Amino acid sequence: MKTPSIGPARRSVLLILGALAAAGGALAAAAPGQRPPPPPSVYADYHPGFADMMTMAVQPRHTKLGLAIRARNWTYANYEAGELRGAFTRMARSIPSYEGEDTAGILAQITPSLDGLRKAIQDKNAAKADAGYAELTASCNQCHESQGRGYIVIRAPAASSYPDQDFTARR
Ligand code: HEC
Repeated sequence: MKTPSIGPARRSVLLILGALAAAGGALAAAAPGQRPPPPPSVYADYHPGFADMMTMAVQPRHTKLGLAIRARNWTYANYEAGELRGAFTRMARSIPSYEGEDTAGILAQITPSLDGLRKAIQDKNAAKADAGYAELTASCNQCHESQGRGYIVIRAPAASSYPDQDFTARR
């Protein structure tokens, strides 16, 4: 018996159905309640290093915190102190080891000065906040010294580098 041949029109219908079934299969790969895998990122191979994170996540927050304390903007200063702490935590998670040392371990040396400053800010104690900020800045430099980076010197900001942000407290 002669097998019926599939005509070109039927073949393309079958191809389309096949493609749809494959696409459906890919979608169904994510079980219900699970997120589908993220699309491949153009930044997949960009991994900010220690110095990148210092420059983009730590330094701006140190600057803003200084400007907020100078403006006695306690609500915002409290927020920014929390953000600075968060930046250090995320750094340790992203780069667990720095030059053979445990990152969380070396970053812990900043914790006491951050704690003290946070308390002064929450108490709205201007004198203690000023002293706490100087202490925090000294801790930045102490760590730089301890890591052989004594040439990276941090100080209180002389002026705002954010012309589009108002650091004074809202009433
Ligand atoms: C636990 C140690 C540690 C602490 C705490 C620390 N740093 Fe750093 N920082 C480093 C190291 C190490 C580098 C150099 C990284 C590299 O080049 O690999 C660095 C680099 C930097 C850089 C980059 C230098 C440049 O000009 O490009 C800046 C800016 C910086 N730190 C700011 C700060 C500020 C501000 C603080 C405090 C709020 C701080 N750091 C606290 C260890 C520390």
